[in-house]
Amino acid sequence: MAYAGDYHAPVLCKTAVERLVKNVDGLYVDGTLGGGGHSSALLDRLSPAGRVIALDRDQEAIDWSTRRLADALKAGRFTAVRSNFVEVESALENLGISLVDGLLLDLGVSSRQVDSADRGFSFRFDAELDMRMDRSAGSSARDLLNQLDESDLSRLLHQFGEEPRARRIARAIVHARPLNSTSDLADIVRECVPRTDETKSLARVFQAIRIAVNDELGALRMVLEAATRVVRPGGRLVVISYHSLEDRLVKRFLRSGNFDGKVERDLYGNTLSTWTPVDRSAVKPDAGEIELNPRARSARLRVGERSDLDPPV
Ligand SMILES: C[S@@+](CC[C@H](N)C(=O)[O-])C[C@H]1O[C@@H](n2cnc3c(N)ncnc32)[C@H](O)[C@@H]1O
Repeated sequence: MAYAGDYHAPVLCKTAVERLVKNVDGLYVDGTLGGGGHSSALLDRLSPAGRVIALDRDQEAIDWSTRRLADALKAGRFTAVRSNFVEVESALENLGISLVDGLLLDLGVSSRQVDSADRGFSFRFDAELDMRMDRSAGSSARDLLNQLDESDLSRLLHQFGEEPRARRIARAIVHARPLNSTSDLADIVRECVPRTDETKSLARVFQAIRIAVNDELGALRMVLEAATRVVRPGGRLVVISYHSLEDRLVKRFLRSGNFDGKVERDLYGNTLSTWTPVDRSAVKPDAGEIELNPRARSARLRVGERSDLDPPV
């Protein structure tokens, strides 16, 4: 474990792997490779015949974890693919695979991404307003902050950041344009909120912009739907989320197979969902893990098992 903690401390690692693996000889997808903590534990749990395909949209995560897991890579037990997890189906197809035994998603950003001064995820550093996990594609935070109209900005800060002063901050952003750096954004937030709320508001605003830049909720919906097509009946889906909006989507999807949470039943009252929740409620990190890794505090892990029903057409 020479690399452990240098890049990212994996959250709820033991539980995630225990819940995910029903077949130690199976084939599993880690949709959010990051620093490879979960993939590494997963490979340890599997037999020499077991295999892990890992995806990440960030090239730095792919490079780091490919080095970390070089032995498994050489042994043909580990494959890393740079891809958005919404494209899991085609990433697997390119490897000649149609069904897997389980899919793991550990959502959000890694500590490495947040702590890299130049990526623009944190208000602690002065940097370009980027915040893209995939630096080769899509609009940056700078584009978004300089282009969105005031009401869309306000809605975004309110919805994704639960920021109570969303309207005031959105108005100040529009007045201060053009914004170029994380310091420009941080200064605006500081001007709009009382000193006592500064740090919380900064965290909420930066989180909201990051979620929007990377379309994190849209991607989550798409990958959950794709999971129904790529995880074989009897296989498992494990999702670790860090935001109530994400956790609500996962909870509803595992209970009902859709995002409204409306459970459909057959004539006999049996649930028609293609997933069955494995635990009655979300698993949370214990006090010991939170003390060692405060970033774990908001984590919620949910597990679903794919039923034998065919996926909806
Ligand atoms: C919380 S970290 C995962 C950490 C990892 N489990 C570990 O043990 O080091 C989330 C990772 O998922 C990646 N990611 C987030 N959304 C993604 C998406 N839509 N497609 C692919 N990768 C994504 C991020 O780039 C980041 O590296």
